[in-house]
Amino acid sequence: MNRVFSGIQPTGNLHLGNYLGALRNWVAMQDGTGGHPAYECIYSIVDLHAITMPHDAGGLANATRSMAAGILAAGVDPARTILFAQSAVAVHAELAWVLMSIARTGWLDRMIQFKEKRGKDAEGPSVGLYVYPVLQAADILGYRASHVPVGDDQKQHLELARDIAIKFNATYGEGLLVPPLPVIGGAEGVGVARIMSLRDGTAKMSKSDPSDASRIDLTDTAEAIVAKIKRAKSDADVLPDTAAGLADRPEARNLVGIYAALAGTSVDAVLAEFGGKGFGAFKPALADLTVAKLAPINAEYVRLIADPGHLDAVLRDGAARARAIAEPVLAQVYEAVGFLR
Ligand code: TRP
Repeated sequence: MNRVFSGIQPTGNLHLGNYLGALRNWVAMQDGTGGHPAYECIYSIVDLHAITMPHDAGGLANATRSMAAGILAAGVDPARTILFAQSAVAVHAELAWVLMSIARTGWLDRMIQFKEKRGKDAEGPSVGLYVYPVLQAADILGYRASHVPVGDDQKQHLELARDIAIKFNATYGEGLLVPPLPVIGGAEGVGVARIMSLRDGTAKMSKSDPSDASRIDLTDTAEAIVAKIKRAKSDADVLPDTAAGLADRPEARNLVGIYAALAGTSVDAVLAEFGGKGFGAFKPALADLTVAKLAPINAEYVRLIADPGHLDAVLRDGAARARAIAEPVLAQVYEAVGFLR
């Protein structure tokens, strides 16, 4: 069976953007639904990556637990899928060190996300932020994952992981590492949607947006969801009949896109129903749908987060299963580069 690896940073609260942009697709790949074949799935909460920018050390463990609860609530099944915290498996850091001598600085100098993030750290970027994509390559290559789901912002990092695997194999032996293939977008009905801020249709929905009204958290109550959608930025026009009519209307496009993603249908299908109607009619329908889809996830999250001992046990079990796959790969890598074992 094909093997998927993916990672998500422990950012505390999950929001609708994480869910529709990544997690729902993780579940579909695990289940083999929405047109995906079923994959063997390995999902990691990447806390090693999280410390490459200034972070709240006191809150990190709980952020990791919270992310685990959200991932499980969304439908990841730890009996079938491996879910673990990255720092619990030493192979990630060890393999990253070896791969740092494969990747060239010129390759890393081209990474767009580094350029975007480095300006946000007053002290200047950490070395860890610079080599972040090499650690990401180690995450994937350490499991010989065949596939990685990628949104737009991670395509370049996956390409780098492929280049590292190819150069490693050319240097030390063909077949040692597996250049991973991208799974671009989601499958039908669970399309990976790029969800934008409710206050600005040109900015990605983000947990770092200071305005709470800009995003819908998976922990929001039904009342909060309804209020946020009511206040969401829109425009004065009625909805068009086809997706093309949304081209210059980022807020309208985002809200219709959220509806389509939650309903598991296309934007055109949503507009076939709501074309010609204004936001006074559309927003209540969107609020109802959002509440209905998020309520079960929310309830499961609340149940899981009340039992941190169980969450920690799930992550420990996942880490042990992850080690069983990755440690033999690292042993072969160490032997290939010539380390005395
Ligand atoms: N960098 C990814 C992100 O910010 C997270 C990540 C870390 C990841 N390691 C990974 C994604 C391995 C896919 C595969 O979204």
